[in-house]
Amino acid sequence: MPCLTVIVASTRPGRVGRRIGDWFTAIAAAHGAFDDVRLVDLAEVGLPFHDEPQHPSEGRYLHRHTREWSGTVAAGDAFVFVMPEYNYGFSAPLKNAIDYLYAEWRYKPVGFVSYGMTSGGLRAVQMIKQVVTTLKMVPVNEAVTVFLREALDDAGELVPDPARAAAAEVMLDEVARLTAALAPLRVPA
Ligand SMILES: Cc1cc2nc3c(=O)[nH]c(=O)nc-3n(C[C@H](O)[C@H](O)[C@H](O)COP(=O)(O)O)c2cc1C
Repeated sequence: MPCLTVIVASTRPGRVGRRIGDWFTAIAAAHGAFDDVRLVDLAEVGLPFHDEPQHPSEGRYLHRHTREWSGTVAAGDAFVFVMPEYNYGFSAPLKNAIDYLYAEWRYKPVGFVSYGMTSGGLRAVQMIKQVVTTLKMVPVNEAVTVFLREALDDAGELVPDPARAAAAEVMLDEVARLTAALAPLRVPA
């Protein structure tokens, strides 16, 4: 069975992203379609701003951090980005992490768990579709949209929400379907 990699896309101190990432990763692990569910936190990965001299499509990486990031992404058959909305867009650390690589992303589905104060991150998701399709990733329409004003309690913890959990299941069903359908196109990076 395939490997699902959940990427937490915010890195700032005090962020909500890791809590949402942990919540989603637990749901994905229990879902059943993926025998290997990995949470990758960009705050822990700690990539510098893109610093490779060659275009990523060359796959010739100078730096150890790039080779390690390449291995992490190559191991995933599918992705879910847990992503905030910042100024109507997606986060700079996520764009940087995407730009480092090329073939490692190709022919892999990507689902979105987005969140924001006002929009639930919907505008950021629309924006990132243009980027991921350039890399031949296949964005999944079914998504989880978290409106933080309602989703967090006074302590900043996620309030349990059956509708949110149901949305995650529906998204994972579709990610799994596309993971299988795209498998013949994937080649090792
Ligand atoms: C720089 C910045 C820009 C933001 N812009 C938006 C926005 O455009 N739309 C929105 O709904 N929320 C916006 N917010 C609110 C964030 O979605 C909210 O603070 C969220 O917790 C950020 O994710 P994080 O805690 O994982 O960093 C913004 C927050 C920051 C820090």
